[in-house]
Amino acid sequence: MPFSLEGFAFFTEAIFLGVYLYGWDRIPPGAHLFAGILVAISGAVSGIFVVIANAWMNSPTGFELVNGQITNIDPVAAIFNPASFQQALHMTLAAYAATGFAVAGIHALLLLRDPLNSFHRKALGIALLVGAPAALLQPLSGDLSAKNIAEYQPAKLAAMEALFETQTRAPLLLGGLPDPESRTVRYGIEIPGGLSFLAHGSFDAEVKGLDQFPREEWPNVPVVHLAFQVMVGLGSLMALVALWAVFKAVRRHELAMSRRFLMAVAACTPLGFIAIEAGWIVTEVGRQPWIIHGVMKTADAVTPMPGLAYTFAGFTALYIFLGVVVSWLLYSQIIRSPRQQAWHRTYLPPVVEATLAREQR
Ligand code: HEM
Repeated sequence: MPFSLEGFAFFTEAIFLGVYLYGWDRIPPGAHLFAGILVAISGAVSGIFVVIANAWMNSPTGFELVNGQITNIDPVAAIFNPASFQQALHMTLAAYAATGFAVAGIHALLLLRDPLNSFHRKALGIALLVGAPAALLQPLSGDLSAKNIAEYQPAKLAAMEALFETQTRAPLLLGGLPDPESRTVRYGIEIPGGLSFLAHGSFDAEVKGLDQFPREEWPNVPVVHLAFQVMVGLGSLMALVALWAVFKAVRRHELAMSRRFLMAVAACTPLGFIAIEAGWIVTEVGRQPWIIHGVMKTADAVTPMPGLAYTFAGFTALYIFLGVVVSWLLYSQIIRSPRQQAWHRTYLPPVVEATLAREQR
């Protein structure tokens, strides 16, 4: 059901994206803006529906298994499964944080070369207005996700934190190399009681370790733990830069006047996308060996169709090709846009006018 609903949202997005992109000079400005708003809304809704389908794989509800047969199907209960809200919120914020910081990063880089360019100044402000609040809210949403996993997917949480033994006052592990064979972690820093608190709201709460699960039902602990560290590490960096932006905005500092700030934002350009990949590794590798948690194993879901390697290679090549096309299009739109040049000539914020006037004097 969420997948079919996603289809409606996707087509709405695609149609109005066409209207938006090709309608600049062809439809009235109000209608053009409306098309843009619809693209934003339907894009977000389409992402939310896809993530809800994934959340159902993590905490399946809305059916009963009787003698291996699926009965009592309730599509609405499947949509509103216990992981839907947390995952949809986390992914939506992730998308805004990653995109906002990527756009801000590109404009910050260009401002380092051309600090007086008013187009890049405006664009930096708008992009940070999207990216910074999302990056600041993301750790809170991640905390909601972690609490949800503690309840519904304890093996995933144990793998994320490389918790081999069930414990009260379970520590939060920073860094470290887990070794599932010896059930130990080397080089990690432990914050006593931290995991108990984050998962259950009390430093003394018991957190289930991997010892509660048969060895063949453990996910790949080093991969899940590393991916979790990358996601949280990059998320913390982005949140710090977002705080810096808020501080500057509150103090009414010109963002583009600080080279250090611009360098920090430029360094953030790819971080959100790397964190998103890491987050999906946590979710997907962390659920293994299940494809539908507790119901169906991935090994049982593999299609017996021969020749899959060819389609896999074909799609990989297609996406690499599309990636190159998109990069080239973005390059020509952002770096060489005539619209940008025109704006640069006609609009300068007062502070820049003043700086230019001073320089001329
Ligand atoms: C800063 C602290 C963060 C915490 C505590 C956190 C926590 C989590 C947790 C517990 C999951 C697993 C959810 C599940 O499998 O059900 C997850 C997944 C995910 N995370 Fe994070 N995360 C953080 C930051 C970020 C950032 C900065 C991004 C990207 C910009 C991100 C992107 C994702 C994505 C895409 C997923 C998979 C889809 C989803 O669950 O929505 N996370 N995160």
